[in-house]
Amino acid sequence: MLPQRAVFVYRHYLYEREERSVSTLLIPTAETARLEFFLRTCLDHDVPLLVLGPSGTGKSASTTSLLVDLPKDKFIVNIVNFSARTSASQAQDIIMSKVDRRRKGVFGPAMGRKYVVFIDDVNMPQKEPYGAQPPIEFLRQWLDHKHFYDKKDTSKIELFGVLELL
Ligand SMILES: Nc1ncnc2c1ncn2[C@@H]1O[C@H](COP(=O)(O)OP(=O)(O)OP(=O)(O)O)[C@@H](O)[C@H]1O
Ligand SMILES: [Mg+2]
Repeated sequence: MLPQRAVFVYRHYLYEREERSVSTLLIPTAETARLEFFLRTCLDHDVPLLVLGPSGTGKSASTTSLLVDLPKDKFIVNIVNFSARTSASQAQDIIMSKVDRRRKGVFGPAMGRKYVVFIDDVNMPQKEPYGAQPPIEFLRQWLDHKHFYDKKDTSKIELFGVLELL
């Protein structure tokens, strides 16, 4: 299983990226291959993933380039950039912007598709007076408890078919 996948990643770089402009070209290195392998494995198995590493090492570039290449009929991709001024309320709105209502309190992507949320620069939101970062607390609530609450009537909201990458 493992060697086959590694070969696939290599082929992917060699053949499928040839027609890109130079600015979007990603130079394959051992690190990008590793990251791509873990991203694909986590995508296949619905495992949330947190990518961390020094600045400028291609975390955003490799992840984004892999996500935009995903087949549109199978995945709905939402790439979100957190900034210092992002609020928890905005984070919830952005995540809910690409899902449909299934029944009361239950939301999910269009049938047959998987919803992938990539949150770039997840560490950026400003701290509130007590030291917490509300948008990150919102994500933690979602990952830990698999639900969050409607902002208007505080009813429970569950999302199905979702995978998060941070
Ligand atoms: N393997 C690579 N091939 C081509 N360009 C690369 C590669 N790795 C990084 N870069 C370029 O380096 C720059 C910084 O990369 P990127 O923004 O992805 O870093 P990052 O790890 O997300 O950093 P930060 O932690 O600051 O967000 C980008 O312009 C990106 O295109
Ligand atoms: Mg980045």
